[in-house]
Amino acid sequence: MTDTTIEARDLAEAALAGLTAQPKGLSPKWFYDAHGSDLFERITQLPEYYPARTERAILETRLDEIAAEVPDGAVLVELGSGASVKTRLLLDGLPQLAGYVPIDISEAFLLQTASRLRADYPDLAITPVVADFMAPITLPDFGGRPVVGFFPGSTLGNLDRRGAMELLARLRAWPDHAALILGLDLVKPVEVLEAAYDDAQGVTAAFNLNLLTRLNREAGADFDLSAFRHKAVWNDEAQRVEMHLESLRAQRVRIAGETINFTAGETIHTENSHKFSPETLSMMAARAGWGIAGILTDPDELFAVAMLK
Ligand code: AVJ
Repeated sequence: MTDTTIEARDLAEAALAGLTAQPKGLSPKWFYDAHGSDLFERITQLPEYYPARTERAILETRLDEIAAEVPDGAVLVELGSGASVKTRLLLDGLPQLAGYVPIDISEAFLLQTASRLRADYPDLAITPVVADFMAPITLPDFGGRPVVGFFPGSTLGNLDRRGAMELLARLRAWPDHAALILGLDLVKPVEVLEAAYDDAQGVTAAFNLNLLTRLNREAGADFDLSAFRHKAVWNDEAQRVEMHLESLRAQRVRIAGETINFTAGETIHTENSHKFSPETLSMMAARAGWGIAGILTDPDELFAVAMLK
């Protein structure tokens, strides 16, 4: 891959900035190297991780309501497509689609997925875009076709309120935007939330700790993985699950030629996963200029798929 060195330099730079800051933190986008992407796919299959299967069930059972907002000849643009697993439900159930544009930061994963999809959907124009969708991106020219955004998995929840609002407004400003299919996780009892982010098999812990493995390999770091532990906590005030990597002792870590000091119990904040109520969701969408065609939830109201137009 031609851009590996650029990515490695970005990573080292981001890591130095994040680990010399107070409190220490890193963007969750760095989770998704090839191994991290695999671990995330395993997370979506865990019994504790209800979001993935619940969203899938909503997409499956409410396809008619979704289809009603997707115009003929539309292009489906997915932010953070990963393995495009649940996208297949839409590609199968929305025959009016003319194209699919998966956007993901993990190039190897994205291109592999795109070639599989091309084999399975020969009539669909599939145009993968390697990009960090959290930053402003330029879409390919679709020749005036209506664009339907697909942003599932509650990934919007990684952003704080302000960043989420900005991203929704940016998607609203896409040329020819017709609709946005937005999956968001809902607020629920803290035990359910914390279990979803600290599963019994330790897959989420491995996903979080893989960040340190990646820094060791790609950013010249020397983290001792046995000296850190995965931690997931509900922050009630901010309405989010936070993931951290906690230093088990006072220690020094070298990274990109610098030394970083950790006190015992100090953490690296690696992810925020905000949870929403249908009311906050409606308010945010409206403020970003979207109309609400419907908010589809499962019977237990664990998860919501908002149809914005
Ligand atoms: C992909 C960001 C939606 O926040 O639930 C899963 C990532 N982190 N388990 C989430 C994640 C830990 C996931 N998102």
